[in-house]
Amino acid sequence: MTGFCPEKDILPLYSKNLRRHAKAAAECAAKISRAHKLDPEKARNAALLHDFAKALPAEELDFSRKKYLHGRSFPDFKTEHGFLTAAILSGRYNVRDQQMLDAIAHHTLGTETENPYLLVLYISDYASHLKKKDTNGIIKLARKSLWQAALYTAGKKLIYVIKGEKHLYPEGVGFYNWLRTRCLKYDL
Ligand SMILES: [Fe+2]
Ligand SMILES: [Fe+2]
Repeated sequence: MTGFCPEKDILPLYSKNLRRHAKAAAECAAKISRAHKLDPEKARNAALLHDFAKALPAEELDFSRKKYLHGRSFPDFKTEHGFLTAAILSGRYNVRDQQMLDAIAHHTLGTETENPYLLVLYISDYASHLKKKDTNGIIKLARKSLWQAALYTAGKKLIYVIKGEKHLYPEGVGFYNWLRTRCLKYDL
């Protein structure tokens, strides 16, 4: 990300809550990634940037959809914002790290991929919303096994959706099943 600094270029655009969430997720991501010998800076930046589209005003979102999504449409903003963020980072800010862009694009519902940065972001995004004790519990699990922690996170997210009688996205269920099968098959 030559010349591009999330802290300087992007974070000032965030609301107080979004900045707090991004920083908390970044802290989790750095801790988890170090335990797996991943690049903590890359994991941290993915977490700082993952919800960038949420910081943009409606007109700018419309402009970015037309310019960067090339007609691709999503059922709602919840499923769209990761993809839109990744597309803006690539198109406007010249971010070229595909693992980071893919992790950001799929951070909401997950996807079947070997990309460890997606797992780190998926877990960190969820963990950053929890009470400190629970956040630390997930980080501890994720340091031992990224896959087990992602499975735990996917399960918790599904329970939250069902309990709240919210819309259940098939991709979220598919990701849970895929993680579960992998954990059983490879004893991860
Ligand atoms: Fe998000
Ligand atoms: Fe988030």
